[in-house]
Amino acid sequence: MALVKDILETMEYGPAPEAAAEVLAWLKARRRFGHFINGGFTAAGKTFATDNPATGENLAEVTQGTAADVAAAVAAARAAQPAWAALPGHERARWLYALARHVQKRDRFLAVLEVLDNGKPIRETRDIDVPLVSRHFYHHAGWAEMLADEFPDAVPVGVCGQIIPWNFPLLMLAWKIAPALAAGNTVVLKPAEYTPLSALAFAEICAEVGLPPGVVNIVTGDGETGAALVAAPVDKIAFTGSTEVGRIIRRATAGTGKKLTLELGGKSPFIVFADADLDAAVEGVVDAIWFNQGQVCCAGSRILVAEAAEADFTARLTARLGKLRLGDPLDKCTDIGAIVHPVQLARIRDLVAQGQAAGAQLVQAECQLPAKGSFFAPGFMTGVHPANPVAVEEIFGPVATLTSFRTLDEAVELANNTRYGLAASIWTENISLALDIAARVKAGVIWVNATNLFDAGAGFGGMRESGFGREGGREGMAEYLKLPEPKPQPEAAPTRLDAAPLPGTPAAPGIDRTAKIYIGGTQKRPDGGYSYAVNAGSTHLGLAPLGNRKDIRNAVEAAHKAAGWGNATGHNRAQVLYFIAENLSARAAEFAARLASAGGDGAEVEASIRRLFYYAAQADKFDGAVHATKSAHVTLAMPEPFGVMGIACPNAAPLLGFVSLVAPAIAMGNRVVAIPAQSMPFAATDLYQVFDTSDLPGGVVNIITGARDELAKTLAQHDDVAAMWYCGSAEGGAMVEAESAGNLKATWTLRNRDWQGPGAQGPRFLARATQVKNIWVPYGE
Ligand code: NAI
Repeated sequence: MALVKDILETMEYGPAPEAAAEVLAWLKARRRFGHFINGGFTAAGKTFATDNPATGENLAEVTQGTAADVAAAVAAARAAQPAWAALPGHERARWLYALARHVQKRDRFLAVLEVLDNGKPIRETRDIDVPLVSRHFYHHAGWAEMLADEFPDAVPVGVCGQIIPWNFPLLMLAWKIAPALAAGNTVVLKPAEYTPLSALAFAEICAEVGLPPGVVNIVTGDGETGAALVAAPVDKIAFTGSTEVGRIIRRATAGTGKKLTLELGGKSPFIVFADADLDAAVEGVVDAIWFNQGQVCCAGSRILVAEAAEADFTARLTARLGKLRLGDPLDKCTDIGAIVHPVQLARIRDLVAQGQAAGAQLVQAECQLPAKGSFFAPGFMTGVHPANPVAVEEIFGPVATLTSFRTLDEAVELANNTRYGLAASIWTENISLALDIAARVKAGVIWVNATNLFDAGAGFGGMRESGFGREGGREGMAEYLKLPEPKPQPEAAPTRLDAAPLPGTPAAPGIDRTAKIYIGGTQKRPDGGYSYAVNAGSTHLGLAPLGNRKDIRNAVEAAHKAAGWGNATGHNRAQVLYFIAENLSARAAEFAARLASAGGDGAEVEASIRRLFYYAAQADKFDGAVHATKSAHVTLAMPEPFGVMGIACPNAAPLLGFVSLVAPAIAMGNRVVAIPAQSMPFAATDLYQVFDTSDLPGGVVNIITGARDELAKTLAQHDDVAAMWYCGSAEGGAMVEAESAGNLKATWTLRNRDWQGPGAQGPRFLARATQVKNIWVPYGE
């Protein structure tokens, strides 16, 4: 028999498995699942197996959803939606509260079911996933209750198609369903094919609480079922999963008017400065990359450590790695469970082997791998060159890369050297340093001296190729609501680019016949050297430069160089906007005369001046919030500019349309490449004279005239443009959305509107010009 002193020596734990009998009995009683549509389960159709990845044993058969199944679910959701939306917020709050309570009552059952289907350790499902699920429903019961006060003009989007991954099956379901229902939407949710069971158990909970039929529908199946849901007549698609599929969905929804949120992959930096509490940072790595076997979109998968601390940190990390316990996920002492599926295991092995072949060394825990099941021993890789596949690709397994840096700037550069921008974790005892880095790292979520913290009260979501939109908090609610859209106004077809100047027609007074494009604060001739004739009726107004792809590229480069604008204070930006307004005001009569030649009038100039004042006023007022999340934390929600934005302006209201779109974008700190009205570009090209006299730094606004849709296409395709607004035709909008899939830039396609009406300015323009970064800062010793 082992002596206590021996046990103290090794600190060996005995086995402590959680009982699974109740869940296994539940599965045995069902065995073959149909879909949950209109409040009841359908008979199982053609099924596929879902297995326990820790043992390889079969758990159940679930139905492969067909397009007809999806159509039936969408029809049920459509039929249920009006009555659900018409309920007072308080009534919906009671339903959400009931769901939260029932999840809590069945928390152990759900925790075990999730372990069996996904392979993650019971400690995580019991202590993290399931408590966060009920927290999400409680929190959103609150939003339902407060909806009318907090979002007074908003209405639900309608029917939402929701597609979730396998890494946090029940939690992702909660993130999707809770806000949708709170806002008055109904849903069709498709769980991942590897992990459909907790969603089906949740469907039973919906039936148990008596949720009105059709409000929640669950259709199981693989990517084909997902694609059918994307194609179905739904009003919104909310997707979490790989960037690759995110791109497919972006293209598939382009031009359909379906609202879209994408929460995609990441390669998140985990930055350790020399003054960090190294033991805490090592524990951070455990939670960052070894948590959930590294199958976490926001996993801190790139450890960047200050060179001065590298040896010490690596030694401590290696020691800690040796203490991780891999094995039966149902055992309460297990740290590392199974990889979700043999396919994923093969993918991890392959990527790690590629990394080694490219010269990296793997430091791996010497675990005894169980004889059965999909297991991968955790570790990290050193000697990773920037071009090594493991430095770039999401491994989605328990393996981080470890690289060192020398200077603060190098840390930021390495952190941002990725196409993703989901999360970042920063370790230092110096709060000014932490917040400085937090501001400079391109990521939607930043954790200071912490990692992988989640709460329903804070938004979560990425920048760049990690997708767009936020889940959780106020921003998350806004994604499930819509504001009344102003009535679209017809727009005259843009001027032909091959029209000849009308002979013998005198130019209107004051026309600048030598208009130029405007790049980096300088007037330039277009690259191609061509112009096009701008005629209004029988009047020839002048020649406008015909910008091309090269001009757009130069403008984007100039806009990037003007990065200082984003760091200027709101007050500074406001002053410049006021100054532009003042200088425009001084030349109001001249601008009015110019617009009159194209059928416009002085009212447009006056409205433009007012608009500039409005966004100057907002520049230092549209700001962030501090959320109540975990105790002893402030969670700062900071709206940040995208960076470089492309803006294609309406053809109508050539001055006011331009100002209405460009002013909110620059007020928030973006730099803009703008394409002015094709039929009357002079209102904008004259404006650069105003910019030149108003202290607007060169490169903040760049103006390229020419064929709007062609230039917009180049902007939409450009990888260094972070967001794109397009105001024009439906076809043009669809083109911009489809072309934006390359770097998954956020897009806003608007129809022409009454630019003097109430729908032409307001906070929604500012919200569209920013993305919220959530920064978690703990306090207390
Ligand atoms: P995936 O993106 O293919 O699957 C996610 C969900 O999308 C599943 O429900 C799937 O059925 C559905 N889906 C697949 N193709 C679809 C389509 N064409 N239209 C609509 N829905 C579709 O991810 P997968 O294949 O499971 O994992 C592959 C890799 O993706 C992982 O190794 C990892 O790198 C990444 N991934 C990232 C996640 C994240 O949270 N960021 C989550 C899951 C995977």
